[in-house]
Parts: sequence; C-alpha cells; structure tokens
Amino acid sequence: MIVIKKESPFKIVFVCLGNICRSPTAEGIFQHLVNERGLQSYFYIDSAGTSAYHIGEPANSKSRQTAKERGIELKSRARRFEGEDLGEFDMIIAMDHENLENIKAFDKSGSFEDKIFMLRAYDPSPGDGEVPDPYYGGMEGFQNVFDIVKRSCENLLDELEGKIEN
Ligand code: 4NP
Repeated sequence: MIVIKKESPFKIVFVCLGNICRSPTAEGIFQHLVNERGLQSYFYIDSAGTSAYHIGEPANSKSRQTAKERGIELKSRARRFEGEDLGEFDMIIAMDHENLENIKAFDKSGSFEDKIFMLRAYDPSPGDGEVPDPYYGGMEGFQNVFDIVKRSCENLLDELEGKIEN
C-alpha cells in the first residue's frame, strides 16, 4: 500500500531506452504537474535509460522543442538505469515492453515486481500500452509522445495525490 508523507518524498523514476526522448519528457511533465499543484515536497522525480548510447546528453532537441512550445523545460542529462535503482525508487515506470523487460532483468528474485509499472497503464486511452519510440521520426511523433505522456502523468498524479497523508 502506498502512503506518501512530506518527511520521505515518494521517489519515481521514468525509464526508456536512450533517456533522451520519452523518459525526460515524462520527468519534465510530471515535475511540472507536481509544481503546479504545489506538491514539490512530496515527490522526487528522475529518469533513466536502459542503454548506454547517450549517457551525459541533454534531452533530444525535438523533445525539448515540443515541451518548450507547451511551457515545459526539459533539464535532464541522460544516465543509465542501474540495479540499485530498484531499491532506491518507490515507483519505476517503463515506456514500452522492451524497457519493462530490461528493468525486470535486474530484478532476479522478483522482489521489486510490485513497484514496476508501464506508464500507459495510467493512460485513459492506452492504445497498445506502449509510448512509441519517436527517435527516428519527425516532430509529429514527438508531439504524439508528449500528448500520451501528459495525460498519463496527469492520471498517475491524480492517483498518487490521493495517497498523501500530511
Ligand atoms: P528514448 O528514444 O528511448 O525515448 O530516449 C531513443 C533514443 C535513442 C535511441 C533509441 C531510442 N537510439 O537507438 O540511440
């Protein structure tokens, strides 16, 4: 059961493959929603990638432009998801099934299974359940990712806000 208190911020990490497109978008949007609702002291938000391809890079320029046009600055630097993140975070949220399997591969005993989720489990229109990889496509793919991630994050935060106890 999830209980969120000010003394120990609830830690969420969004995870994709490169940590330059989808998960930085989710991190930026979720942080923006948390700020809008004045809930900063209840949450710690991060993102990571399961690959090492882009470590240290800022978010993709098309991701940053899409977010900026909607009033959100993406400030992340890419890092790789590590096994220790399973213990460190309260919720680990994958963008697609490949990411989910990559995360679960670190959880050999299955003891962290109940805190690993798919983002689109929170999407009111979940489609095929995955946030599509926009990396090799044009702006419309990035805009589609933004829209999917925004409504999913709104729904996720609505749910978590109900778990706040002080
Ligand atoms: P992301 O997108 O997982 O949403 O950050 C990708 C970024 C880079 C690559 C694939 C997906 N890549 O193959 O380099």
